Amino acid sequence: DWNMPDYIAEAVQKIRDQVGDEEVILGLSGGVDSSVAAALIHRAIGDQLTCVFVDHGLLRLNEGKLVMEMFAGRLHAKVVHVDATEQFMGHLKGVTDPEQKRKIIGREFVEVFQVEAGKLPNAKWLAQGTIYPDVIESGGAKSKKAHTIKSHHNVGGLPETLGLKLLEPLRDLFKDEVRELGVALGLPHDMVYRHPFPGPGLGVRILGEVKQEYADLLRRADAIFIDELRAADWYDKTSQAFAVFLPVKSVGVMGDGRTYEYVVALRAVQTQDFMTAHWAELPHSLLGKVSNRIINEVRGINRVVYDISGKPPATIEWE
Ligand code: XMP
Repeated sequence: DWNMPDYIAEAVQKIRDQVGDEEVILGLSGGVDSSVAAALIHRAIGDQLTCVFVDHGLLRLNEGKLVMEMFAGRLHAKVVHVDATEQFMGHLKGVTDPEQKRKIIGREFVEVFQVEAGKLPNAKWLAQGTIYPDVIESGGAKSKKAHTIKSHHNVGGLPETLGLKLLEPLRDLFKDEVRELGVALGLPHDMVYRHPFPGPGLGVRILGEVKQEYADLLRRADAIFIDELRAADWYDKTSQAFAVFLPVKSVGVMGDGRTYEYVVALRAVQTQDFMTAHWAELPHSLLGKVSNRIINEVRGINRVVYDISGKPPATIEWE
């Protein structure tokens, strides 16, 4: 059991001692770890921290707005918001292979981040939301195996190419400790208890070629699903839940007309460690409501299916 105010005071002092009067740059993703790291470092050094938020066009609905409201608006942190949608979409054009898509998204992310870092020549530090399990994973043999199945996108390699020193204030913390810290630093509960979201984002939830049009449809369908999960008190009972865009068309009827539109799959799982997972037995009434709302509200989708595959053999993501 730890005393949170003491912990924060110590962590803040440690960051100040480490950094002195130098400047720090941090890649903010909207995820739990980078958000808590940003809030803690900002508490310690204020405007010596610049957060860079790269929008690759594959984020959840309103993500950019929420991140800016929270960090620039409420915390008054310096945040650079980069809309790199066109650059990412351009490089993803015609690419259908999942691993290839991950590589491109990871590479472009590093590229955009480097350009932004170049605009902050005084920055001497790169801050990252690395947490204890990441530290074990990157050194452990166990994870190597998991990682050959899908290459996980992160910003590994950035500090070397940027010539920056690494600041990782969450290195000793487990996920639940990071969350407690986030709440104590004033971050909203919903942000701190969010489901994980993969680095390549909707890029691996749009099967095959990624198109802006598909991302826009998927974002809206996904937001409806998450909305209804929260309303039904199921969000916290699932470990991860999201919509997947299937670029196949099926026939439907709407009024007196025939429709021929895309399919969305819903995925919700329960898991301890994300290595194995059960599909969540969501109430049929909840699934029905989500399906009705998506089909009525998202023009372009006329069919919704629910994924009832466990991991293994299926993975949590569809790509
Ligand atoms: P799978 O699909 O392998 O996912 O069962 C296990 C967990 O890892 C997440 N995931 C990723 N996270 N980059 C990430 O940062 C990726 O490329 C990636 N692929 C999967 C997935 O969301 C789940 O939580």
